Amino acid sequence: MSHHPLPSAARSRVRSLLARPWLGLPALVTVVFLVHALPPYLGLDPAEARIPVPDRAPPFYYPLLVVHIFLGAIALTTACLQVWPRLRARRPAVHRWSGRLYVMAVLPAGAAVLAIAPYLAMGPNQQVGSGLLAVLWMAATVLGYRAARRRDFTRHREWMVRSFALAFAIVVNRPWLTLCLAVFAPEVLTGARPDMEMLRQAVGVSLWLSWVVNLIAAELWLDRLRARRRHAGAAAPAARAESVHATSAQPAGERA
Ligand code: HEM
Repeated sequence: MSHHPLPSAARSRVRSLLARPWLGLPALVTVVFLVHALPPYLGLDPAEARIPVPDRAPPFYYPLLVVHIFLGAIALTTACLQVWPRLRARRPAVHRWSGRLYVMAVLPAGAAVLAIAPYLAMGPNQQVGSGLLAVLWMAATVLGYRAARRRDFTRHREWMVRSFALAFAIVVNRPWLTLCLAVFAPEVLTGARPDMEMLRQAVGVSLWLSWVVNLIAAELWLDRLRARRRHAGAAAPAARAESVHATSAQPAGERA
């Protein structure tokens, strides 16, 4: 009888997760984010919205915001599935279908942002920052999808890493916003009435920080992968040459 409470397959899964704890991180932050962000929108009542609908917003604003949020939730969930190496290796069909679902969620979710961006309440900084993030998110996703269709999996992986970094900008925006409010408009955190200009700056700066920093982190990560691949590529011929040398140095009778 085994002394372990878990079967060996589950034990090896837990062991591999403990060895690479960052694999579970996207799923964890996604669950925490969705549990906190979705409830105000589940009742489809504009009065419940976490951020009040701007007074000058057209009638399509709230429906498109809700479409954006629900599809954004699908995008984050499928992104977590896509970066799970075990699923990619063992269930390639699930990887392909959840990848298609990701693309089908990102495009309308990003387009909805473009439609509502001009009406955002916090001014040009937020409007341009959100619009550009949406364009880059959709572009990286389309380029990643097209690379997969061409079976160029190196490019596919690179564009999808950028796409996920942009999708997760919304998640890291929560801590950035808290920091920016503490620096530029601390009254908000104490419940006092803030200076509106400083509040606009805090929201705008936190938005730009969210996606620019994520994108820089993604590029650094991709650079590291490329360097590792180059290193492995340079090591392989050297190892091959060494083994050929060793073989040819052996007396003919010992080679077989
Ligand atoms: C990466 C591209 C994204 C862009 C450019 C973007 C942009 C926006 C914009 C402009 C708003 C309206 C903010 C306001 O009313 O002041 C918004 C709200 C929201 N978005 Fe996104 N979003 C993106 C991704 C996502 C994703 C992946 C989710 C996941 C569910 C999401 C969830 C939400 C939620 C819950 C709101 C409501 C306000 C809040 O609680 O923050 N967004 N988004």
